[in-house]
Amino acid sequence: LERTFSIIKPDATRRNLTGKINAKFEDAGLRIVAQKRILMTKAQAGEFYGVHKDRPFYDELCEFMSSGPVVVQVLEGENAIAKNREVMGATNPADAAAGTVRADFAESVGENSVHGSDAPETAAVEIAYFFAGTELVG
Ligand code: GTP
Ligand code: MG
Repeated sequence: LERTFSIIKPDATRRNLTGKINAKFEDAGLRIVAQKRILMTKAQAGEFYGVHKDRPFYDELCEFMSSGPVVVQVLEGENAIAKNREVMGATNPADAAAGTVRADFAESVGENSVHGSDAPETAAVEIAYFFAGTELVG
């Protein structure tokens, strides 16, 4: 089984959508093996999104990700990385397929309700950034 890292972003926690989003993950066969609600500092968000530091939206993204609580989580399942990205839908909600998290809930391309790792290497780094191995219970 594969594991991926997921974040329910501030726009979604603000609207009490954590349960509805988790239901989509679980309905798709993903198991939530770790989960906690945290408030990221802007510096923490900046480090987490370091790969995007030269993109024009970087500052806005770090500001947004530290603007309210997020739920960080580890999802486990067969092909969890690809499956999670399928459930999330396209980055821009206008392009997201019907029934995906972003089609149903995202407010804009920036405030798009969820993050999900894009490859096994990034999943491993992102999980380790927020969780100790003992916090993952499969
Ligand atoms: P993540 O799972 O969050 O990484 O989404 P993604 O892989 O679909 O998108 P990408 O890695 O390209 O961008 C990371 C995040 O930056 C997105 O999820 C958005 O929150 C934000 N972002 C991407 N493009 C834009 C943009 O054009 N404007 C703004 N404001 N934010 C953007
Ligand atoms: Mg990405």
